[in-house]
Amino acid sequence: MSTDFYDLIRRRRDVRAEFTGEPVPEEVLHRILAAAHAAPSVGLSQPWDFVLVRDRATRERFREHVQAERATFEAELAGDRAATFRRIRIEGILSSTLSVVVTYDPERGSPAVLGRHAIADAGLYSVCLAIQNLWLAATAEGLGVGWVSFYREDFLRELLGIPARVRPVAWLCLGPVTHLHEVPDLERHGWRERLPLDAVVHEERYPG
Ligand SMILES: Cc1cc2nc3c(=O)[nH]c(=O)nc-3n(C[C@H](O)[C@H](O)[C@H](O)COP(=O)(O)O)c2cc1C
Repeated sequence: MSTDFYDLIRRRRDVRAEFTGEPVPEEVLHRILAAAHAAPSVGLSQPWDFVLVRDRATRERFREHVQAERATFEAELAGDRAATFRRIRIEGILSSTLSVVVTYDPERGSPAVLGRHAIADAGLYSVCLAIQNLWLAATAEGLGVGWVSFYREDFLRELLGIPARVRPVAWLCLGPVTHLHEVPDLERHGWRERLPLDAVVHEERYPG
């Protein structure tokens, strides 16, 4: 058993406020992207692409959009939840070193993607595994990652020239950090607590 591996999983955090903006060496970035690209995928379709966004103006435009979506979400919240939410940061788009936008191309490896005939979402699951590999590899390199999902897909398609059939799955902020918190931000700020393991493990049948 590798305790280092389990420790890595425990240390991984979603980062918003702790980015330093320092450079990421190209060989480190390459290792992280290669780890993502080594993920399992349905039918070996490898349906992901990674768009590296370093341009400040592009990131500023995206951040403005995210701010508007944040306001939309906040407007749906009841008073005390809105007050809690206002204290929570949801992105480090400009403070991180660069962003990696991960996309899903359903046509990659098609027609007849082996294993996807009954579950169309299996392609999306594959992209999420690549993202998790990226996240853990970045953590192993001492970097932080922050997933931003406060966006409309069409806005991001337009911003980065992504074709209509391709789905942007994640905008990931990436870069060196001052530190990783022990406790997730949403828990630290009283939004929600992590469930204990035994609340989600069941014997033989789904509960209820
Ligand atoms: C699909 C997905 C979307 C997420 N979107 C956001 C987001 O828009 N902004 C944000 O601050 N965190 C986002 N997160 C991070 C979660 O809030 C975070 O993973 C969770 O609170 C647990 O914290 P931890 O990752 O530090 O363990 C997202 C995570 C996932 C998996």
